[in-house]
Amino acid sequence: MHITINFKRSGKVVKTYPGYTLLQIARANKIPILSPCGGNALCGGCRVKVLEGNDIMDVSAEEYNRLSDEQIGDDWRLSCSFIPHGDIVVDA
Ligand code: FES
Repeated sequence: MHITINFKRSGKVVKTYPGYTLLQIARANKIPILSPCGGNALCGGCRVKVLEGNDIMDVSAEEYNRLSDEQIGDDWRLSCSFIPHGDIVVDA
């Protein structure tokens, strides 16, 4: 089953299989997302706002460590830890 990731700011719509992080999907499709710590969930610099389709129930421990409660409530996700399981639109 494919999922669709709409990178709205980049103007790219990507179909992929679930199981990859948002950062991996972006890199594979040449969509720039800053990743100062190299995707190791240490810096918080890869945060991206989900505009549609966010599932707050699957926020990972790494995301809780690097994002504020306000950011999580406002649909920010950590690209290097966030594994989308459904169709989403992101601001990247
Ligand atoms: S790249 Fe540093 S937390 Fe994701």
